[in-house]
Amino acid sequence: MDKYIISGGRRLEGGVRIQTAKNSVLPILAASVLTDEPVTVLNVPDITDVRNMVRILGCLGCSARYSGNDIIIDSSSADNCEIPRALAHELRSSVFLLGSVISRFCKAKIAYPGGCDIGLRPVDLHLTGLKRLGVEITESNGYINCVCDKLAGNEIMLDCPSVGATENIMLAAVKAEGVTTIKNAAREPEIEDLQNFLNSMGAKVRGAGTGTVVIEGVQKLGGSVYQPIADRIEAGTFLIAAAMCGGDVELSGVNAENLSSLLHKLRENGCKLRIKNDKIYIKSDKRPVSVKSVETQPYPGFPTDLQAQMTALCCVCAGNSIIAENLFETRFKYVPELRKMGADITVIDRCAFVRGVEKLKGAAVVAHDLRGGAALVIAALAAEGDSEVLDISHIDRGYSGFEYKLSSLGAKIKRVGI
Ligand code: UD1
Repeated sequence: MDKYIISGGRRLEGGVRIQTAKNSVLPILAASVLTDEPVTVLNVPDITDVRNMVRILGCLGCSARYSGNDIIIDSSSADNCEIPRALAHELRSSVFLLGSVISRFCKAKIAYPGGCDIGLRPVDLHLTGLKRLGVEITESNGYINCVCDKLAGNEIMLDCPSVGATENIMLAAVKAEGVTTIKNAAREPEIEDLQNFLNSMGAKVRGAGTGTVVIEGVQKLGGSVYQPIADRIEAGTFLIAAAMCGGDVELSGVNAENLSSLLHKLRENGCKLRIKNDKIYIKSDKRPVSVKSVETQPYPGFPTDLQAQMTALCCVCAGNSIIAENLFETRFKYVPELRKMGADITVIDRCAFVRGVEKLKGAAVVAHDLRGGAALVIAALAAEGDSEVLDISHIDRGYSGFEYKLSSLGAKIKRVGI
């Protein structure tokens, strides 16, 4: 298991090109099962979640090959509708495959998914939605078994705007008979991206990005060559790192619109931001001032995937902050690790109360999940002295070349195998 060794206390300066969004690429790869024609996904990030998704596609009988940074999926040979436990546990997004596998084979069997251990993460909304499209679902031995004669469009009201459930239902509905309407749909930019990708294959989907997504079923989908959107969470992580370490950093290939809630907070922190076309420039010269409160919400609210990084920033701000996590139950697992670095944080239920300290100090800390791990890395970059961040396989799930990008900004970070 690899670890990072980090010497903190350096300003970050320079430019970073933002990777393609993990949370767009994963459902798009799942959607490639819906066609017999080749699908090319451009500039795919080299992260383990993507590699695991490609392995799962291989297990379904699809062929996948890399051409530079692009992946070409040919699903014409797909012949298996079962995703075994070992693979499903590696990747929560394996559950997105339910919709496309059922659409393709009229049956699917998948082990309960894995992914970050950040709370209960049930899949009831995915299953209720699929049932409304005519799928019969039984559960046995930790497997979800799905079967249908055909898929038929219907109206589906989600109890909460789940990203995964919205995407899964879209995937099942694109080739269903008739019209499907998803109400209280999630509005994340990655959902609009999935819509655009599906439409590039010949689907008829509209409304993504609003609370109502309408899918008119079509009989056949073709291939596509598609560039998904930029990774707003990677971009946010670099912005927060610059705010925390002090710096002059320019991100390119990013859509600032998708980061409004974070940019608003960073301005409150006292950072200077400039946005031009696909670039965001951040300058942070003084100790940041605290933001009073941060509340995670479905998009366009503050993203839960930036909560840990934002809490790390609050640790060194002048003043106190309250961070409320409204989406996942156990997303404060990184807090005891930050405390080892001298952070002053108290967690009560779903709220973290942070009293800013002048400086964090280097320590040996353990990454327990993807975003919590990224938060520890940026805390270590801002801390005085040396740190070790252990178990960085979690970070490798979502950040491509994290240490190279940070080094190019002047950070002192190196990966060591143990
Ligand atoms: C996706 C993202 C993840 C992000 C999350 C919230 C991907 C691959 N992952 O995860 O990075 O943190 O959105 O923005 O895109 N829920 C239910 N029942 C369900 C489904 C969800 O109760 O069937 C609840 C969850 O417990 C959670 C909330 O809905 O409280 C949001 O979850 P959801 O939007 O589904 O997150 P994911 O799709 O798993």
